Amino acid sequence: MNLHYKNTVIKYTDSVYEPSEDSFLLAEAALSEIKGSERILEVGCGSGIISAVIKANTTAKITGIDINPHAAACTKENGVEVIRGDLLSCVKGKFDIIIFNPPYLPRHEGTKKDWIDVALTGGHDGREIIFRFLEDALPHLVENGRILMVVSSLTGIEEVKSKMKSLNYIVGEKGQERFMFEQLAVLSGTKRASV
Ligand SMILES: C[S@@+](CC[C@H](N)C(=O)[O-])C[C@H]1O[C@@H](n2cnc3c(N)ncnc32)[C@H](O)[C@@H]1O
Repeated sequence: MNLHYKNTVIKYTDSVYEPSEDSFLLAEAALSEIKGSERILEVGCGSGIISAVIKANTTAKITGIDINPHAAACTKENGVEVIRGDLLSCVKGKFDIIIFNPPYLPRHEGTKKDWIDVALTGGHDGREIIFRFLEDALPHLVENGRILMVVSSLTGIEEVKSKMKSLNYIVGEKGQERFMFEQLAVLSGTKRASV
C-alpha cells in the first residue's frame, strides 16, 4: 500500500502499523519542534512515515528503531536509516530529540498475538512499554534534549505525566485531538540540565 504525505510516498505492508491519526499528530509536532540539524531518534518507527517526513522536510539527521523486522525493512525501503531492536537497547550515543508513537492500548485477554498487536498494545494498562521507554531514553538524551510521545486517554494521560515527573523530566504538551473514542495528546519531556 502507498500513502502520500508531506512530500513523501510511504509504502507499507500488512504486518506493519498503518499510518493513522496518531502518526500524523506526532509528525506535525516533530516538524514544529525540530530546529536545524538536530540528531533525532525515532523509536517504534513502523512504516517509517514520521522519520521519512522529518528527513524530507528538515535538515535533521534521523535514525529509526523497530522491534518488528517487517517494520524495519519497510522503514529502510522508505529511505530511512534503521536498526531492528527492542527500545533503545541497540543504540549508542545521545540525541537532541527522541520521538515515539508507542503501543499504548491496554491489552485484553485473548487478543491475537501478532505484529499488529505489538504495535498497538502496551501490557494490561497500556503503559508498560511507555514506562520502560521513559527510563531508557534519559541516558540517550543530551542535556535539555527532549522526548516527544503520543499517549491516549485510554492509556491514562495523567498517569504518564506523573511517571515523567517522577523521572525528573520537565513535562509539556504539544497538542491534543479527539479521534473517535479517544483523546490523543503529544507529550514532551525535557531532560533537565545538571547543575
Ligand atoms: C503505534 S505503532 C507506530 C508506528 C509509526 N511510528 C507510526 O506512527 O505510524 C508502534 C510501533 O512500535 C513498535 N514497537 C513496539 N514495541 C517495541 C519495542 N519494544 N521496541 C521497538 N519498537 C517497538 C511496533 O512494532 C510499531 O511499529
